[in-house]
Parts: sequence; C-alpha cells; structure tokens
Amino acid sequence: MGKVNLEDSDSKDKKTEYSLMRVKGTWKRQLKKVNKDTCDCVPAAKIYDSITEKGITWTVVSPVVFTYKVTETQDLLDPGNDTLLLGHITDQQQLEDFKKSNKPIKRFVVVDQEVYKIYGPKITGYLEANNVLYKLLALPTTEENKSMEMVLKILEEVNNFCLDRRTEPIIAIGGGVCLDIVGLAASLYRRCTPYIRVPTTLLSYVDASVGAKTGVNFANCKNKLGAYIPPTAAFLDLSFIQSLPRRHISNGLAEMLKMALMKHRDLFELLEKHGRMLLDTKFQADNSVYGCNRLQAASQTTRIAITTMLEELAPNLWEDDLNRLVDFGHLISPALEMKVLPSLLHGEAVNIDMVYMVYVSKESGLLTEEEKQRIISCMVGLELPVWHEACTMELIQRSLQDRLKHSGGLVRMPLPVGLGQADIFNNTSCEILHQAYEQWCNELSIATDGHCDP
Ligand SMILES: NC(=O)c1ccc[n+]([C@@H]2O[C@H](COP(=O)([O-])OP(=O)(O)OC[C@H]3O[C@@H](n4cnc5c(N)ncnc54)[C@H](O)[C@@H]3O)[C@@H](O)[C@H]2O)c1
Ligand SMILES: [Zn+2]
Repeated sequence: MGKVNLEDSDSKDKKTEYSLMRVKGTWKRQLKKVNKDTCDCVPAAKIYDSITEKGITWTVVSPVVFTYKVTETQDLLDPGNDTLLLGHITDQQQLEDFKKSNKPIKRFVVVDQEVYKIYGPKITGYLEANNVLYKLLALPTTEENKSMEMVLKILEEVNNFCLDRRTEPIIAIGGGVCLDIVGLAASLYRRCTPYIRVPTTLLSYVDASVGAKTGVNFANCKNKLGAYIPPTAAFLDLSFIQSLPRRHISNGLAEMLKMALMKHRDLFELLEKHGRMLLDTKFQADNSVYGCNRLQAASQTTRIAITTMLEELAPNLWEDDLNRLVDFGHLISPALEMKVLPSLLHGEAVNIDMVYMVYVSKESGLLTEEEKQRIISCMVGLELPVWHEACTMELIQRSLQDRLKHSGGLVRMPLPVGLGQADIFNNTSCEILHQAYEQWCNELSIATDGHCDP
C-alpha cells in the first residue's frame, strides 16, 4: 500500500488532520490532538483534508491489520483433532460460545484432484465424523489450469452453497496451485471471505501456505492476477508429504535452500548434511532406519524455513518494500517456468535461477569458489537441476529488464554474500552478467543436461 507522507506537502495549502472517534455507535472526525500521549485511545485511521485553490482533497489513511495463524500439527485428519474446523478462531470467548452451541459446522472444501485420490476417504470421513455440512470439490488444480476460469468455477459452486462469509471459511487442501487459486477465489467472493490453507506438498508447506499472496496465471504470465490477502489460518501436517513423488520433494527443498542461502547458514548445513536422507524418507517421523536424526532434521529444517520466511513476510506482507531477499531465485524463473511449462516445476525453475545468481555472486567477488562449489553440490544432492538450455542470456536480460520496470527502476537483485547471508544489489554490470553466464554454461551445461546425476 502506498505510504502517505503528509508532512512534505506544499505549505501554502490549508491542511487539517482528523482522527476518528466512536460516538454513540457512529464514527466522527475529531481534530487531531497535538498531545501524542493520547494517541493510544484513538484508532489508527485518519482523515486529512487539504484545501487548495483548485478544490479539496480528502486523504484517508486506514491501516489494515491482518492476523493469521500458521499451525503445525499432527494427525490433522484424525476426527478427534478439531484444528481444521476450529483452529482458526483466535477469540477464546467466541470459541467457547461456538462449542456450547449446537449449530452444525458448514464448510466448503476444495481439494486437489490427485490429493483427493489419496486422501479423499480420510477427508470425507473426518468431515462426517464431525457432523459437518460440507460441499467438497475435487479439482485438477494443475499449473496449466491455474487460471481465472478455475477461480470462476469454484466461485459458482461457493455461491450455490450459500456460506456465511464471516464464520465459515473456505478450506483449500492441496499444493501451491490449489492454495493460490482457492485463496484468490475466497478473496473475491463477497470482497473477502476467510479461507484456510492445508498444504500437501513440501513447497506449499514451507512457502505458499505461510504468506499472503494468492494468484492465477494470466496472459501467459505467472501469477499475473492475484491478491495480497492471507488465509485466516494455515494448518500444516508433514504426514501429507509421504505420498509426494520424490521429484516434488526436491522441488520444495529448492525453496528451503533459498531461505538457507539468503539468511540461515545452519539451515544450509542441515540441508547439506541431511538433504539426501530427507529425500529418501520424505520428511517422515519414523526413526527406525536412520535413528532420531531423521525426525529432528525434518522438523528442524521445515521450522527454520518457515520462521525465516515469516520474518521476511510479516513486516512486508503487501510487498511495499521492494528490496526482498525472498525474491532470490524469482527474477528469471517466472519467465523460464512459463516458457517451458510444464517441463520444469516451480522450485526447479527457482533453482536454475539461483545457480545462475550464485555464478553472478562469484564473478562479483561476493562468494569464493569453494562456497560456490558447496552450494552447487548441495543442489545436486537435493536432486535439483542446475542448468537449463531454455535459460538463455536473452531470457535473463529480458527478465532483468522487466524487473527494472516493476521494481521502481532498480533491479534489486538479491545475491548471496557468503553462506547464509545476502544483500540486495542494483549495479551489477552487463559484463559480470555475461561472464557469469559463460562460466555457468562452461561448467554445468554439458555435465548435467538439466537434471543432475547425483
Ligand atoms: N502464494 C505464494 O506465496 C506462493 C509461493 C510459492 C509458490 N507458489 C505457487 O505454488 C505453485 C507450486 O506449488 P506446488 O509445487 O505445491 O505444485 P502443485 O500444486 O502443482 O502440486 C504438485 C503436484 O503434486 C500433487 N500433490 C499434491 N499433494 C500431494 C500429495 N500429498 N501426495 C501426492 N501428490 C500430491 C498435485 O496433484 C500436483 O500434481 C506454483 O504455481 C507457484 O506459483 C505460491
Ligand atoms: Zn517460489
């Protein structure tokens, strides 16, 4: 949201600041009191009017506060676990009142079709055991179907279901695509209906489910239509990951590696050390083969990834600040992902972008050769692609040009400066970009041909 700086306006104009006070059930403007100590007793919203020779302008400053929960739990679909149905309620009194009333719970649930094939009976069993009045839609929420048509399809069904948009959140169960589509549909329905995210892929577990963004592809561009409306809650249960194909575990590991490279050296070292085991065991808590390290590494790495991600997102939920470390791996990858759709998964495209940027860092003197090699070995260990023929210099340049256009004239390139640390750079020369590209192709193109043999 735009920031309002009223202090800097032309001093000739007559400006007045009003606070808002609640008086007998209605809101009234009240001339701002000079005494700042009394600020606590008035809401943060303000109205300013400014009178000039040309007319009058009212400027409204209305801070929007989002409160949402990200809850990690076990056995989310165990009928005795009420997290899915009630875990989003933050007000204790409201929760108690609800539990006392005998009103049946009503929920609209959208599930990714593939997830439904595996977990359908468990989901319906859960809803029925809890006497929920529900409508369940199982949809092919694939990247190719991530469109406004799918949003409208969901909205038609939501509309037929007649839910109470204040108390009956829409539930989305699936990967990032499903969560993004349903989040957008909910944000549009009656201008904003609460929704709950249940991620079933590793990527959505650590990334898509914890932030505020929703979206669909449009005009052949990734997530071109979307909103910044967070879910009312995200409920995370690692056990969904056990049915995920191995390639999709690597896919999620790419977003975890992003956070590690940007801001958490320990996470990087955990992924370096346990990455292969996490892939083999699909982040499951059975320590019969690998000993107790296995559970520790699964929960430790996902929790660090989520916490570091939340640290970056919470103060910048609407992305006002354009200098974002979480954009690492996301400067070139959107164009690459769309260009070769569906051959690269999101995290794979992100990884290819990250490797190139690691070369840019190395060429800029920000990373040593040894650090660069460690990062690449880690990526290879996580079975992520480290080069792609479609990622040409032309695509890189076009993407960076595009970035300039949409980032206030600066490229704002997050680059690793050592392991687990990063900074934002604006003046990387064309020469460095070319050298990095050449070096990258020389070292990795022939050996890997896209996917690496670990
Ligand atoms: N909103 C955000 O902040 C954000 C962040 C990162 C990524 N994303 C978006 O997320 C999308 C990628 O998400 P994704 O990688 O989860 O892909 P996805 O939603 O396409 O899911 C991947 C595949 O796994 C299947 N699947 C899902 N859960 C399963 C399970 N438990 N067992 C077996 N199969 C399962 C799905 O049917 C699908 O085929 C992209 O569209 C990306 O733009 C959004
Ligand atoms: Zn991403």
